[in-house]
Amino acid sequence: MKISVIGAGNVGATCAQRVAEKELANEVVLVDIIDGVPQGKGLDMWESAPVEGFDTRIIGTNGYEETKDSSIVIITAGLARKPGMSRDDLRDKNAGIVKGISEQVARFSPDAKIILVTNPLDVMTYVAFKTTGFDSKNVFGQAGVLDTARYRTFLSMELGISVNDIQAMVLGGHGDDMVPLLSYTTVSGIPITQLVPQDRLDAIVDRTRKGGGEIVKFLKTGSAFYAPSAAAVEMAEAVVRDKKRLLPCSAWLSGEFGIENTYVGVPVILGKDGVEKIVEIELTDAEKEMLHASANSVKKNISQLDI
Ligand code: NAI
Ligand code: 2OP
Repeated sequence: MKISVIGAGNVGATCAQRVAEKELANEVVLVDIIDGVPQGKGLDMWESAPVEGFDTRIIGTNGYEETKDSSIVIITAGLARKPGMSRDDLRDKNAGIVKGISEQVARFSPDAKIILVTNPLDVMTYVAFKTTGFDSKNVFGQAGVLDTARYRTFLSMELGISVNDIQAMVLGGHGDDMVPLLSYTTVSGIPITQLVPQDRLDAIVDRTRKGGGEIVKFLKTGSAFYAPSAAAVEMAEAVVRDKKRLLPCSAWLSGEFGIENTYVGVPVILGKDGVEKIVEIELTDAEKEMLHASANSVKKNISQLDI
């Protein structure tokens, strides 16, 4: 089992470290265009193996030979947001980067599952899908797991209750119009509306939508990476261990939820065959409307791509 991580920056390197520490693969290959960075970070990580007690080998490289026959490729390469930038501002530069990488993935690892992380997430997932020509169940994007994790964290802070007892899901595109589902938010089965007043819920939903920007404002020179890498690796783990997790992921829709021909975040079952099922849950009229608006904004962005 080999997992390749493309982009050895903040998100990519942290993904590689998490994959190794969880021993999700025998080998992790870390690829970046900057000479020395993937090699140095990879070796440094491997040298933590005796302390952490894992046997995963970590190879850093600037090429793709070493990625040959990867089971999973996590694509994190590209520009990250700086203060004042939206995720969509990254589109054209990152589309070229993701296209080039996807060509290499299709060449060296034609049977891989691809997990996209690069922003704007839903659009970049489409670029990888189109470029590789892979079945859509093998190409999916990480956003909803992160957005949901942020939402659950904020609810936990509000209530002083363990995050483990907070169940929730955030759908839609990875943008400020994402769709936190209040109707499916519970604390050990208790509807959230019984525990948190509406004005506080509205504030938490707003903070979730702007969660990425909140971290960018603090960091100033880049964007979040601890929670994003944890989210991407949770998806990889679902595939590697065939866990059949039900997670919100960016998936290709062909009529589900009344939406077609776009990637957008929806509940899916993730297992060894990638997106094994898109789970069409019932939504309130307001949630449906928000999901459609979010999907339309991804579609508009896709239509403006020049690839
Ligand atoms: P970073 O700047 O720390 O790392 C990006 C790395 O990509 C750099 O090391 C750069 O050299 C490398 N790179 C650029 N072009 C490349 C190419 N053609 N081949 C291989 N490597 C290449 O950025 P960070 O923080 O790791 O973020 C990476 C991407 O992930 C950004 O687009 C960011 O917006 C996105 N992101 C998405 C999230 C999500 O939830 N989907 C969450 C966090 C970040
Ligand atoms: C985030 O949500 C930047 O998309 C990234 O943190």
